[in-house]
Amino acid sequence: MPAPKIRRTTPHFSMTRAPTVGCLFSGMGGFASGLQEAGFKIVWASDIDADACETFRHRFKGTRVIQESVQHFSVQKYHLASVDVFAAGFPCQSFSQAGNRRGFNDPKGTIFFEIPRILSELAEHQRPRLLLLENVPHLLYGGQGSWFQQICNSIRRSGYWFRRDSCWLVKVHQETSIPQDRQRLFMVAASRHHFSFNPYHPPPSRPTKKNKTQSLNEIIDRSHPASTNDYLPKNTKYYNMISQAMLRGTSRSNIYQLRRSYVREKKGGLCPTLTANMGTGGHNVPFIRDSWGIRRLSVTEVAQLQGFANVENLFPESIPTTQRYRLLGNAVCVNAATRLGEDCGRILRETPWKA
Ligand SMILES: C[S@@+](CC[C@H](N)C(=O)[O-])C[C@H]1O[C@@H](n2cnc3c(N)ncnc32)[C@H](O)[C@@H]1O
Repeated sequence: MPAPKIRRTTPHFSMTRAPTVGCLFSGMGGFASGLQEAGFKIVWASDIDADACETFRHRFKGTRVIQESVQHFSVQKYHLASVDVFAAGFPCQSFSQAGNRRGFNDPKGTIFFEIPRILSELAEHQRPRLLLLENVPHLLYGGQGSWFQQICNSIRRSGYWFRRDSCWLVKVHQETSIPQDRQRLFMVAASRHHFSFNPYHPPPSRPTKKNKTQSLNEIIDRSHPASTNDYLPKNTKYYNMISQAMLRGTSRSNIYQLRRSYVREKKGGLCPTLTANMGTGGHNVPFIRDSWGIRRLSVTEVAQLQGFANVENLFPESIPTTQRYRLLGNAVCVNAATRLGEDCGRILRETPWKA
């Protein structure tokens, strides 16, 4: 019997240059920072938000940043270069347990479908080899699993290998050195044109050893007074609520988060999940006590708790403080993105490509 023919996919390529990235929903660039740290080159980025784009430009000199609604965005329209990877942390309010949970019944949820639309406008060989998507874990379960199924179907129809086991469900404080209680879902799809299968597998859960997680005390500066604006005036409603919660709480050095109508002590040496509405009102703001009073975490502390480096020069001067908190709360945690980037960089270097 003749030996069966084996179709060889010659590894005619091994990536010696830095893999390139285009960022959709780029925000201030948490995803981009992590990928850059892992050796990727950020070629272009796009977001609808003016402050996000201005901050991104300030941080990634030389990257083309397009301020545009994704609904009007196209690679051809702006003559953008083909890239190896699309990174897209698309809006999560419609999928979050803390949000409206309307999924694809919410116009903000359907924004996701702009990603396959943008891909469909590209010839197969111009499509990115990998798609890296980021959102909330509830995306997997919402609508009794139908949200994720729709995402799967849509990505596959765009010519990508993608399944549930191409997703990485990450607990930031367990898998990076960042002491923030933040859970996120990263989804990795691989182009059928370039790969014979999806080479991405999430890393085995590798809880960070206790001594590798940074201590909150390394980030929160209680030895100097923060900006006056960060302190709550005494005897106001919120001051009294938080001060009472601190008296009842288990530790004065913990972070206390103001929820809509109550205060929650965050235990376990962690910061609660940082959210975009931190800067714009009472809801979700993390507070601490120091020798000068009760204050919210500073912008610098929040930036470190999202994994940003060079925190003193993160924003252009024109960005107001409220917006800095919002942009930081919206960001992808840099350290988680770096870890994903390291795995995907390895895939691009080592997996044989079909074309
Ligand atoms: C979760 S944040 C993204 C965080 C960002 N990927 C990062 O790496 O830090 C979602 C982003 O989607 C942007 N966005 C929301 N609606 C949009 C639209 N219609 N077109 C383009 N961007 C939009 C928001 O301005 C926000 O920056």
